[in-house]
Amino acid sequence: MRVSVIGCGHLGAPHAAAMAELGHEVIGVELDPGTVKRLNGGRGAFYEEGLDALLQKHTPTGRLRFTTDIAEAAEFADLHFICVGTPLREDGRGYDVSQVLGAVRSLAPLLSRPCTVVGKSTVTVGTVARLQQILAAEAPAAELVWNPEFLREGHAVADSLHPDRIVAGLASPAARHAIEEVYAPILARGTELVLTDPQTAEVLKSAANAFLATKISFINAIAEVCEATGADVGDVAYAIGLDERIGHAGMRPGIGFGGGCLPKDIAAFTHRIDELGAHQAAALLTAVQDINAERLEAAVRLVATAHAAPVDGARIAVLGASFKPGTSDVRSSPALRLAGRLHQDGARVVIHDPQALEAARARHPEYTYAATAEEAAAGARVVVLGTDWHDYTADPGLPAALARLVEQQVLVDVRNAVNTGAWTGEGWQVWQPGRPPRHPAP
Ligand SMILES: NC(=O)c1ccc[n+]([C@@H]2O[C@H](COP(=O)([O-])OP(=O)(O)OC[C@H]3O[C@@H](n4cnc5c(N)ncnc54)[C@H](O)[C@@H]3O)[C@@H](O)[C@H]2O)c1
Repeated sequence: MRVSVIGCGHLGAPHAAAMAELGHEVIGVELDPGTVKRLNGGRGAFYEEGLDALLQKHTPTGRLRFTTDIAEAAEFADLHFICVGTPLREDGRGYDVSQVLGAVRSLAPLLSRPCTVVGKSTVTVGTVARLQQILAAEAPAAELVWNPEFLREGHAVADSLHPDRIVAGLASPAARHAIEEVYAPILARGTELVLTDPQTAEVLKSAANAFLATKISFINAIAEVCEATGADVGDVAYAIGLDERIGHAGMRPGIGFGGGCLPKDIAAFTHRIDELGAHQAAALLTAVQDINAERLEAAVRLVATAHAAPVDGARIAVLGASFKPGTSDVRSSPALRLAGRLHQDGARVVIHDPQALEAARARHPEYTYAATAEEAAAGARVVVLGTDWHDYTADPGLPAALARLVEQQVLVDVRNAVNTGAWTGEGWQVWQPGRPPRHPAP
């Protein structure tokens, strides 16, 4: 099939590459000419595991190409994915959907033959109805489908190729046929296609994110209980997760959720459902956000306790800048926020990240960065593990390598991610949220 992907950011670039991998001919449309140039050259504008490999496989053959010209896409494709951003409004009261409205308004007058417009951006409940009006007026031959995206950054390519379900909010047999055709190789593997009306698809995406955030805040709230009682949240999470109704996924306590999606999606959804009168649901999600904000403060206190002295003037290494491993995305990154708080409190913070240094430096040029974890740790009084990259959690040589460089062997693992025995065995004290500190083996 000939498809276009409009908006080639963290969602759109992996989606375009995945569509080419599925066998479609793909044109990506992106406003930023620098991004278009990089993508056509086989490199993403950010690090995302597996993305560059697919770009390098499909751009040289012409199966996948990128442009700034939406008219080229309108002429070329029979199905158009809308993947533009929906940031939080500046006043925090819901999404700014201007990119979505703008993309559809510029595409619609160019659609002269029957085609399908498939929205993947996460939008406010009610946005699809507005887009339907624009298309009905400007492009009556176009069908609109809402096809929310559930990919996880850091796994964006794999999740686009192997989603655990496809949801399509649609209203006509022609729209259903188009969705079945574009996702045919995925559906052929037995992946479930959930068909709904468009407004259900809008709510469903927000509900999925709300549940994930609630689960994270739940175990983080239990971490707070453990801190108050001396219990160990690691054992609590493990034991309760053995109940299949609870499970272990999303149950690792830590510094809370961040990134370009969950925080803004929960904030926008909470605001909208409160407006619509769903006050109990809004109160629940307000508590989820409050708990999340408090985990950052708890992490700041944990560093101060582990350091056993004010952090003012102390050299602190922060390992990790991206909001999670597998991506260079630093939007609302808990690791960077913690680094910023420690910097504000007077600590001499040095940050390392395997992939996100460039993105972090662009956003926060005022911080100090190091090219390696060793360089960041040299002379540090506390090492903070802020992002659970495998480079930090699965390198068996790291505890010993850093031990030789630091002034004091104190690790604060705000992600509850390291094998504590591997670190205490090399002489480290290990501090984790919701757990008693671990001391070096005698
Ligand atoms: N990032 C994720 O993991 C993820 C997952 C699921 C859903 N989503 C949703 O997908 C949407 C996009 O998120 P993102 O993280 O990719 O945002 P992003 O900011 O990384 O990317 C959006 C891109 O769209 C481009 N753009 C804006 N208007 C355009 C236009 N008219 N024509 C062409 N390009 C245009 C921007 O330049 C930008 O590169 C959001 O609604 C988000 O909530 C994101």
